[in-house]
Amino acid sequence: MANQEDIFRKVISHAKEYGYVVQSSEIYDGLSAVYDYTQNGAELKKNIKEYWWKAMVQMHENIVGIDAAIFMHPTTWKASGHVDAFNDPLIDNKDSKKRYRADVLVEDHVAKIEAKIDKEVQKASKRFGESFDKTQFLTTNPRVLGYQEKAQSILKRLGRSLEAEDLEDVKNLIEELEIACPVSGSKNWTDVKQFNLMFGTKLGASAENATDLYLRPETAQGIFVNFLNVQKSGRLKIPFGIAQIGKAFRNEIVARQFIFRMREFEQMEMQFFIKPGTQIEWYEKWKELRMKWHLSLGMGEENYRFHDHEKLAHYADAATDIEFKFPFGFKELEGIHSRTDFDLGSHEKYSGKKLQYFDPELNQNYVPYVVETSIGVDRMFLAVFSNSLKEEELENGTTRIVLKLPAVLAPTKAAVLPLVKKDGLPEIAHKIIDDLKWDFNVVYDEKDAVGRRYRRQDAAGTPFCITVDHQTLEDETVTIRYRDTMEQKRIAIGAVNETIADEVGIRKWLKKTE
Ligand code: GAP
Repeated sequence: MANQEDIFRKVISHAKEYGYVVQSSEIYDGLSAVYDYTQNGAELKKNIKEYWWKAMVQMHENIVGIDAAIFMHPTTWKASGHVDAFNDPLIDNKDSKKRYRADVLVEDHVAKIEAKIDKEVQKASKRFGESFDKTQFLTTNPRVLGYQEKAQSILKRLGRSLEAEDLEDVKNLIEELEIACPVSGSKNWTDVKQFNLMFGTKLGASAENATDLYLRPETAQGIFVNFLNVQKSGRLKIPFGIAQIGKAFRNEIVARQFIFRMREFEQMEMQFFIKPGTQIEWYEKWKELRMKWHLSLGMGEENYRFHDHEKLAHYADAATDIEFKFPFGFKELEGIHSRTDFDLGSHEKYSGKKLQYFDPELNQNYVPYVVETSIGVDRMFLAVFSNSLKEEELENGTTRIVLKLPAVLAPTKAAVLPLVKKDGLPEIAHKIIDDLKWDFNVVYDEKDAVGRRYRRQDAAGTPFCITVDHQTLEDETVTIRYRDTMEQKRIAIGAVNETIADEVGIRKWLKKTE
């Protein structure tokens, strides 16, 4: 655990030191759970959004993208169920006065039981060596089976109680499991209470005439209310999708873990409109497609898993999370939900406007069903950033810190370095930049010895360094250095652009999703 915390601390400080993420309004001691993306962070975030948009909108003939407003008519949130049901169950510890999400306390307890299973696996794998069969061990070892049963029965009960809004039983569960406050260590808990997560604000100049508004807690509703506008103007035929990237706001009470859980964040959502009755087929299809998108970035298959929901949100008939192994364990990165006709049906009721599709094949009108894919940009950023940060032992006994970002997402694709600041080398380096900048984000760096400059670019995540030296004056070649392998090659200046494009071009990466 200490090790995990240590790694996470390094991720946060590296993000600050190398121009990726800082706390918002830091000079005023910061604003809790709100963050700013600085120069490299803004580029990485933009590239993540582009990678998603291209995969979802540009690569699918039947998906279009929109950009709806953050402010929406207040009835939207009544219809969507957020006014009544977008709550977190909270519990306070009477001694530390700290507030927790009751479900998170229970889930953290279950994570500890699951960690015991991992320990048993590690011990057994050491004991049996080569002949160890993990699947057999997990399905037959009595101690492991006991832990599994315990974890499952706790989660089932939690799901049932939350579903039934039985908050008393959630408290009973916390007491029965003897969960203690991580701060005070005491088990002196208040009752569990629901707390709505939407931020309220006002529209209008005077207090009497002001309308109460909410900052949207998800981007999805901007898609639902525009369903007919987009379908009609685009003459779209079911099945089709509407995608959107935009800010969302939630008054998270347990706001911790850096950019994992924020109060202001960004979502990339796609609502896929389908014929009623086909939802499970499409739900499975989108699970597969979204997992392929993640795997295309090469961050390790073992770092992803599906986690089906026990407790379904008020709008869903099936739901799963794609979980990623963050520095603090496996946690939700993306949600895939079969939302039925809940949203469109409810907007029909509240607005009095028909939100139906005329199906020419069936010759009838219906309210389409929806399968949604929803991923947080910031969470994706954290997954990519934390997975890429490595400390490597080198052959000469030294270590290097390297940010092995997938090259397609890296903020800066190449740094151009004159070996020395004289003899015409800076001028050639600038000329190379003048050519590359039309296609890539590149930087010039002439300060310090070249070895130190390489390390600086490694730590910033730049996939290529292009070094101009005295040989360049003679034969118009440069050294290209690869961040991940540290391999260096001599290539013609004329070949630099293509060499970089081969590695960072979006086509090569997205091809892997096919
Ligand atoms: N429209 C469905 C929806 O909003 P959700 O599971 O509440 O579903 C979807 O959120 C995704 O948005 C999550 O998987 C996560 O990546 C991201 N997300 C949700 N709350 C967040 C928060 N407070 N901070 C950062 N990302 C968040």
